[in-house]
Amino acid sequence: MHVSELPTRPALDRVLVLLPTYNERENLPLIMERIRAAVPQADVLVLDDNSPDGTGDLADQIAAQDAHVQVLHRAGKEGLGKAYLAGFAWGLEQGYDAMIEIDADGSHPPEVLPRMLEVAKEADLVIGSRWVPGGSIVNWPKSREVISRGGNLYIRLALGMPVKDATAGYRVYRADALRAMNLDDVSSQGYCFQVDLTWRAVQQGLVVAEAPITFVEREIGASKMNESIVREAMLNVTRWGAEHRVSQLRSLIGRAERG
Ligand code: GDD
Ligand code: MN
Repeated sequence: MHVSELPTRPALDRVLVLLPTYNERENLPLIMERIRAAVPQADVLVLDDNSPDGTGDLADQIAAQDAHVQVLHRAGKEGLGKAYLAGFAWGLEQGYDAMIEIDADGSHPPEVLPRMLEVAKEADLVIGSRWVPGGSIVNWPKSREVISRGGNLYIRLALGMPVKDATAGYRVYRADALRAMNLDDVSSQGYCFQVDLTWRAVQQGLVVAEAPITFVEREIGASKMNESIVREAMLNVTRWGAEHRVSQLRSLIGRAERG
């Protein structure tokens, strides 16, 4: 497409950073300071699932000192996907132009956010990607790297979408894109939630861009991911892939029958 023909996307004046937390008491002040420094114009909404370690209380204390910070307290641990869906709904209600997903454990460097927002001027979804040129991982166990690389390869083949890091949890979504993606029936958790939303975006014909990031494994606290999350992702991707092929086949047959 010629540059002058690119659809003009509305300016991203009001940006909301969604920061999900479950037992991130030590990480929260560190990541908050980095986010506020990297994108001082943006607001931050902490999505805490009633963390037993008191992360929610600490978030309240931070919010009391900073008009850019608010906290959504949820009743209990329901998974990353549910927390983000609640955050998206809140942000759409409040009229934000874009929403950012970022982990609270320091794995996603907030310093890249201005660059990601720049890319979002001409994209509906920007993924902070480990698996494009310039992207990398630091201190990840080999086992996680194998799962991520293998998982993404499988996703690419099963769904036939060109995205290199479809499981990534570091993203900028335009509000318009979220509205177009029909989020009412999303039930996926964990990694699968990220793949699910990527797939929805691609199927809606939205522009998905990837900006390289360096993913740094957390130094404090523990990952909440587990084997059942990987299994859920593989099963769902296989099902979506099969459904996609069947609908492609149907439309091909339909076209052939019509002559
Ligand atoms: N509110 C809430 N509720 N937050 C949660 C929950 C939950 O049930 N589970 C995890 N979180 C928060 C964590 O506190 C952290 O800020 C962020 O979500 C990521 O959780 P981790 O447990 O650190 O995830 P990870 O490092 O294993 O996985 C990351 O990489 C995956 C791909 O490799 C995440 O970015 C995933 O989204 C991504 O798919
Ligand atoms: Mn992590």
